[in-house]
Amino acid sequence: MATVAPEKQRQEISRRRAFAIIAHPDAGKTTLTEKLLLYGGAIHLAGHVKAKKDRRSTRSDWMSLEQERGISISTAALQFEYQGYILNLLDTPGHEDFSEDTYRTLMAVDSAIMLLDAAKGVEPQTIKLFRICRERNIPIFTFINKMDMPALEPFALIDNVESVLGISAVPLCWPMGSGRDFKGFYDLTDNQIHRFERVTGGAFKAPEKTTGLDDPELSDLMGEDLYRVFREGVDIAASVLPPFDINKFRHGEMTPVFFGSAITNFGVEHLLKKFLDLAPAPGPIPLESGETIHPEDADFTAFVFKLQANMNKAHRDRVAFVRITSGRFERGMSVQVPRLGKEVKLSSPVAFFGQERSTIDEAWPGDIIGLINPGIYRIGDVLCTGKAPDFHPLPRFAPDMFARLVLTDTGKSKQFRKGVTELSEEGVIQIFNVTDQTPIVGAVGQLQFEVFRYRMEDEYGAPVRLENLPYECSRWIRQEDVSKLTRFDKIVQDERGNPVVLFESQYRLKTFSDANPDVELRVHPP
Ligand code: G4P
Repeated sequence: MATVAPEKQRQEISRRRAFAIIAHPDAGKTTLTEKLLLYGGAIHLAGHVKAKKDRRSTRSDWMSLEQERGISISTAALQFEYQGYILNLLDTPGHEDFSEDTYRTLMAVDSAIMLLDAAKGVEPQTIKLFRICRERNIPIFTFINKMDMPALEPFALIDNVESVLGISAVPLCWPMGSGRDFKGFYDLTDNQIHRFERVTGGAFKAPEKTTGLDDPELSDLMGEDLYRVFREGVDIAASVLPPFDINKFRHGEMTPVFFGSAITNFGVEHLLKKFLDLAPAPGPIPLESGETIHPEDADFTAFVFKLQANMNKAHRDRVAFVRITSGRFERGMSVQVPRLGKEVKLSSPVAFFGQERSTIDEAWPGDIIGLINPGIYRIGDVLCTGKAPDFHPLPRFAPDMFARLVLTDTGKSKQFRKGVTELSEEGVIQIFNVTDQTPIVGAVGQLQFEVFRYRMEDEYGAPVRLENLPYECSRWIRQEDVSKLTRFDKIVQDERGNPVVLFESQYRLKTFSDANPDVELRVHPP
């Protein structure tokens, strides 16, 4: 492999941003994504518009649609370029599609944009996704969308973010009205007014005029009353709210807040520019050993955060999505996969463009590549050229839905075992009491069950029935605590034999925890 000039490597790293948009369904994630892509020459645009429409109309039978498969993978990572930056936007599916994949995808980003609907503020899915980002302390931007519709008061929205999510929220711009009266915003960082003219006909970019706060037209434009409220808001925002602190932001303790309207494309470019100013480029990654990987290291390192099987039925292949963490990737290079103790040649790295695949020749830390492989990789696998880094393991999460797994064709028990083992290794579901005739499967989203059932039959020829169980949450416990459980508590074993308690409700979990303060209840397996 050719050696890379360190300067070139530093340049490539500094212009990369890997991020996700986290949002409750309908907040406008698809719309914002589309608008962001319009600014960049979407290098690997992935048919996002179509994906959304199709998903809606074919929810129930999406698994059977090959085309849909293509779309669901293609949205895993989009790459686009803007003003010399390479942005890697990773998809986090909406509510119905929620799965452990979503969690793991957030392990592969360096920052996130939290999108809120201005009329609704923080919603349940926002909270779930936010918490995962918070666990990693990654920087989070807040974009309050749909300001062109009737909205909550800006202070109420800021308060909502702070009180529900427990993060300090600092507006970097202040909206001029909302709904029909939405006229633009004031950028508190450079004291410029961005006036917005609504256009009909879905124009790419709303005409925008920048002026100062002393622009005499503002009061006429907004009407005296609204103008007064706006000015008061600006004064309070500028004087009472804490100043934006980049260090707190970088540690995930403070979120800068922006207001806009993705559908009219107002405020999107402003958000993108601020994002590039503030979002971190790929940085050092601490390892279990206490050592650190630096993206500038000469050795190539990467990890697999998502697997998608049978993308293309004709080929029956699997795609491993890999986040590069250091060094330089080059097509055809050979890397070690320490878990297998063997060397693998990366000859077919791809990026997805709708149904099309395109080959990648080179990639850098912060990039996501798809590796086609005949079942070599597992989630969490490390790829490296030098010493094997011991990344913190990708977390598994305590499932919150459970079902008893019944093989409906008893002649297929061999296929059944194989399917259960492989799909749980792949992270499609979690399996408990695996040696039982009817094991229990657990997931964090219904979609995982659907995918699992479909694949058991389609790929392994083992038709299964999933009988829902009445448990809503689970926690790992220590072996020595098992004796403290009563006969009313449901205890199962994960695939490695660790004990897991299943609870019928969050309330039951709480009463159990209150009654047994010395029992450690873990969200992640030991
Ligand atoms: P999602 O991916 O987060 O689920 O949301 P999506 O972008 O699909 O947006 C959900 C709905 O909200 C869509 O309307 C979309 O047009 C609308 N929307 C998104 N951003 C804005 C905005 O800034 N202002 C307003 N007023 N609406 C916005 P829909 O009627 O459900 O779908 P469609 O027929 O418009 O596609």
